[in-house]
Parts: sequence; C-alpha cells; structure tokens
Amino acid sequence: MDLLIVGSGFFGLTIAERAAASGRKVTVIDRRHHIGGNAYSENEPQTGIEVHRYGAHLFHTSNSTVWEYVNRFTTFTDYVHRVYTNHRGVVFPLPINLGTINQFFQSAHSPAEARALVLEQAGEFDVKQAANLEEKGIALIGRPLYEAFIRDYTAKQWQTDPTELPAEIISRLPVRYTYDNRYFNDTWEGLPTDGYTAWIERMADHPNIEVRLSTDFFDESQPLNQKATVGQVPVVYTGPVDRYFDFAAGELSWRTLDFEEEVLDIADFQGTPVMNYADADVPYTRIHEFKHFHPERAGRHPSDKTVIMREYSRFATREDEPYYPVNTPEDRAGLLAYRELAAGEKDVHFGGRLGTYQYLDMHMAIGAALSMWNNQLA
Ligand code: FDA
Repeated sequence: MDLLIVGSGFFGLTIAERAAASGRKVTVIDRRHHIGGNAYSENEPQTGIEVHRYGAHLFHTSNSTVWEYVNRFTTFTDYVHRVYTNHRGVVFPLPINLGTINQFFQSAHSPAEARALVLEQAGEFDVKQAANLEEKGIALIGRPLYEAFIRDYTAKQWQTDPTELPAEIISRLPVRYTYDNRYFNDTWEGLPTDGYTAWIERMADHPNIEVRLSTDFFDESQPLNQKATVGQVPVVYTGPVDRYFDFAAGELSWRTLDFEEEVLDIADFQGTPVMNYADADVPYTRIHEFKHFHPERAGRHPSDKTVIMREYSRFATREDEPYYPVNTPEDRAGLLAYRELAAGEKDVHFGGRLGTYQYLDMHMAIGAALSMWNNQLA
C-alpha cells in the first residue's frame, strides 16, 4: 500500500481516484458501512425513490476544473434548485426577492421602489455596530422581512434566540431585486443522473483502490489503525481533527441534524423539493420531498406514494454526526492549536470538512482534494 485514506467522502475519494490513476496502491477505510460520506444516497425500499441519507445534496459549481473532473464519473440532470418558505400559512419564494417582497407587503413595487423600502427599514441599526445577529439582520434587510423570514428560522437552526447569537454568523442576507428565485448563482448545477451512490462507486472503481468499510481508524483491534499506520505509510485523514489528537486542545463544537422520514400514500405532498418553515411554532426547519429532485424519473416513481423528510437542527454531542461547525471564539482558538499539532504530524495530511473544521460544499471538497493531490501528494 502506498497511501492510506481515512474517510470515503468526496475529499478522500478524490485523492484515492487521483492516486490510483497515477499508479499508486491506495486503501480507503471508513467507519460507516457505506462509501461516499455525507453525500451517500439510497433508494427508499418501498418506493424506489432516491433519498439523500445525510440531508439534501445539490451539486453546483463555477469551478471549471471541478466540473470537468466530476463529469468523468457522472452526467448531471438539468435540475435547478428553488426553495420556498411557509410563513404563517402562506408560501413565499426564497432567497428573498422581488416576488417575496411584493407578496409580503401586498404591493407591486418596482426594483427601485423595493430597494428604497428595504433601505429605509434597514436604517434602524448600523451594520457595523450590530451587537448581535438580530441587530445585524435588521440592519441588512429591515425588521419586517427579518422577523418574518430570518428570526425564528435562525432560532430553530441554532436553538438560541438571535439576540444571543453573535452578529458575525451572518455576513450578508441576499435580497434580489428581480423575480429570479434560482437558489444558486453558479455556472453549473444539477443532480447526478444515476444518483449519488452510482457516482461515488465509479470514483472508487479502480483495481488500485481497496475499500474497507465499518473500519474505524481509532479501533486498535483492526490492523489499519492510527498507531499501526502513522509514520509507516502516508495518511490522508478526513475525520474530525480534534478526535485525531484525542481532544488534546478541547472539543470543537458542531451542530447536527435529526431527520424524520415518512412514506405517504399520496402522489404529491408539497409540489416542490424543499419547503422551509419560517415560524417558531413548527419545530422542524424544513421538509424535503425527494421525488421532486428527479422529475425525469416520474415514470419510475410510484404514482400513489411519496417520501418526505422533516429536518430538525440542534447542537451535537460527541456521539452525533457533526454537520455544521459552530465556530465560537473557543473553537477558533482550538482549531489554531490543532493546526499546529497537525503541522507536526509527519506524512499525515488533514483534509475535508472534518479534518479542517470547515463547512465545505461538495465542489469545494473536491477542489481542495485536487489541490492537495497536485501540490502535496503527486
Ligand atoms: P464527509 O463527511 O463526506 O466524509 C468524511 C468521511 O470520514 C465519513 O464517511 C466518515 O464516516 C469518515 N470518518 C470519520 N472519522 C473516521 C474514522 N475515525 N475512521 C474511519 N472513517 C472515518 N454540499 C453541496 O455541495 N451541496 C449540498 O446541497 C450539500 N448539502 C449538505 C447538507 C448537509 C446536511 C451537510 C452536513 C452537508 C451538505 N453538503 C452539501 C456538504 C457535503 O456533504 C460535503 O461537501 C462533503 O461531505 C465533504 O466531503 P468530505 O469528504 O470532506 O466529508
């Protein structure tokens, strides 16, 4: 073996694929029973509808190198992501745009009129002096839109009142003064035609790649564990950086999600893939309805059933799946300490969202892995 890769998410698999293509023998281990990390999906058994197991994954990028690379393993559908939100029983388009504003204020404002209205309402606070997330939100889009679409949703995401959250959590709140409600601004977007798992399996399908699942790097009863391999073989580590150092500089904090899946005996539950719930009286943040991600599969989907998934957000404990870095000042200090420790680990390369304590979209994880391969490992 020339390289051991811990973690079979997009970061680890991109390194594995590049290394294998250049003739190296690679072993990839993952503690889960499947490859693909958080992008893993599987067909719900009763309906055959593809469900993204760790939350909805939409591929989008403006990076031509990444786009060219991913197209070696899968084609993409022409899916364009759009999100709606339910506020007090009325559905509005997101991100906040001219349609949202005119529906909310029961008006027919032109772009210039809407811009002037938001500017006037935002005058209540100064962005630079905002003492907390609430003041910043109001300073960016004005109180009425903030209270309707941001306040309670943010409180549910963080299980914390926005007046108690630091202003820096949001840098901007996009408002579009057109009726364009495309969610992403990227050059390319779409969903893998045959699903995420087919894409992921094609990346790992090479005689030079061996994959060992249900194999934890810290389990000393399995042969490819930390003690047995570090210093013996180059390692790319994409698990949590604090766990690697046995939490020597403290635990980095994360938010996690709980998913509640249901198969319903109806053709269509909400008419769209993602419906957010903006208000505090609904405990979940959003509902996904997976069949709408693939309208081109309509002929294969049952006409009398659908799969929905409610999403709830909370702080993670050590036993939970870490999803979004919380990034408190203590976390940032801890991360600096871990970066120093990581720099001292000979021939261990830390990458991916867990290994660098960073939220990374798929295209970012793949792009970062391609850079690590080209600049450090090749
Ligand atoms: P990833 O977490 O995928 O893989 C790490 C792997 O390491 C895991 O499989 C884990 O089991 C393994 N591992 C950890 N510790 C180990 C150990 N001790 N031993 C062995 N294996 C170990 N992106 C996007 O572009 N569009 C989107 O819509 C979304 N949506 C989205 C929703 C949610 C809820 C989340 C949390 C994330 C997204 N993402 C996303 C981001 C996407 O999931 C992310 O870019 C990739 O997962 C990053 O891949 P990594 O390989 O870095 O981590």
